[in-house]
Amino acid sequence: MASAQIYPDSTKGYAQEIEPVQYTTTGGPKGYPLLGMLLHVKRDPIGVLADNSLRYGDIIPIPMLGLKSIQINHPDLVRYVLMENNKNYRKSAAYIRFESVLGQGLLTSNGDKWKRDRQKIQPMFKREQIEGYYFDISNHVADRFKQRWLKLTEKGAAEIDITKEMASVTIEIILKSIFGKDNLSDSTIAQIHHSFNIFIAYLKDLRILPRVDMRKMLGTPSYRVFNKELISIKEIISDLLAKYRQGSLTDKYNMLALLYAAQQGNPESMTDNDIMDHTLSMVFAGFESTSILMQWLWYALDSRPDVVRTLRDDIHTAAPYTSNTDSTPLTYEAISKMRYLNAVFMETMRLYPPFWVTSREPIEDEIIGGYKISKGTAVVIPQITMHRHPRWWENANAFIPERFAQGEDTPVDHGLYFPFSHGPRKCTGYKFVEMEAKVVIAKLLPLFNIKACNVLGNPMEPGISLKLKHPLRVRISRA
Ligand code: HEM
Repeated sequence: MASAQIYPDSTKGYAQEIEPVQYTTTGGPKGYPLLGMLLHVKRDPIGVLADNSLRYGDIIPIPMLGLKSIQINHPDLVRYVLMENNKNYRKSAAYIRFESVLGQGLLTSNGDKWKRDRQKIQPMFKREQIEGYYFDISNHVADRFKQRWLKLTEKGAAEIDITKEMASVTIEIILKSIFGKDNLSDSTIAQIHHSFNIFIAYLKDLRILPRVDMRKMLGTPSYRVFNKELISIKEIISDLLAKYRQGSLTDKYNMLALLYAAQQGNPESMTDNDIMDHTLSMVFAGFESTSILMQWLWYALDSRPDVVRTLRDDIHTAAPYTSNTDSTPLTYEAISKMRYLNAVFMETMRLYPPFWVTSREPIEDEIIGGYKISKGTAVVIPQITMHRHPRWWENANAFIPERFAQGEDTPVDHGLYFPFSHGPRKCTGYKFVEMEAKVVIAKLLPLFNIKACNVLGNPMEPGISLKLKHPLRVRISRA
């Protein structure tokens, strides 16, 4: 790693002078002979990463069945891998398992293919799309749920499963944004939702040895179920594409339509298979993660009536009509003014990052922080430990939205806070997520009190995303 210690922050334009740092490599966990930490990681991955981060140095070797793997535990090194020297890194083998669903979509591809595709995908997330088409869909869907909750609470409080409720809101928003606001029936939305639940359950089990999918090789029943669902989803997408070709679908602003238009403009640059992989990647990236984020938001607010009060004031000041029971749509301008809402969003993503760990592998042998690693070594970069490390965060495990009081202008070190990753492979959908989450909260919080019915203990369940361990049941009543 270069010894110059100036790390310009590319997106915020602030630069920080850092004293030359001596990175420490004070050993790491040993685990069992041969297996190393394999069983420990399988049993309690967050426990292992957190324990390592508190006990050892900045670079921590993790023995794993002879595989080479290191955990990074210093913000300079996180930035180095994700941003400053990103050209020497590719997605690690952990991402290979996703290829069975996503093919070579943006999440899984590398090198020149990724670069070309990223340029093609970027226009789907430009400002006008977020503030226009996707915002309208979010407004409309959130309003339908508001009206439903108003009905449910007509005669007093009602108990609901907020986990299911948030999954329904977010799947509808993401699917309508990807495939068109009027192009899918309710039953097709339910079918895609069901299929993705099966994909996620299937892919989760490949966590430790991702290069080998024995179930596919042996054609096991679980693989056959998985494959049947994949075929049916691909048929839905092919069918929509065929309708665009025949001219029977005209909505131009959904993601599929934008990809189709790009294909029409330059047929060599994008095949139907590419469109399939890209749309599946969008559903996969945006489906469970956003639903989980919404659940964490309600979970975090549950124990903090003081935060709820400030948040309601913030929403009310920018958009007083959100307290009415009618369907007045929010404006984008109004949600942009809700600074405290932004802080609550950021703090939730700090404590409960839906993508809780990232990993990369160097293409060529590398020296990180003075520590030599050979190409192909898995470099594990855990959001969950960097976001909560007591060395860097005061009162690290407490929910304190005021940390981000300056909203998007809060000077945050990208190596300490990276729920959407950073550098060239930063999530393409982050503005979409932020807008969607704010719309849903601004529509529901002013009108309803939401109180958890079940006590959750240690609530985190790390799978592909960081889920709540148990479904969260809440009592909703009129505020
Ligand atoms: C709370 C919700 C979300 C979170 C926390 C999240 C987080 C992330 C993270 C951490 C990455 C980087 C993964 C890595 O490099 O290993 C990523 C990549 C990506 N995300 Fe998201 N994401 C969310 C929602 C979405 C949505 C809604 C979409 C699209 C509609 C989306 C599309 C993508 C794509 C396409 C990539 C790959 C980008 C690339 O490699 O160039 N994400 N996301």
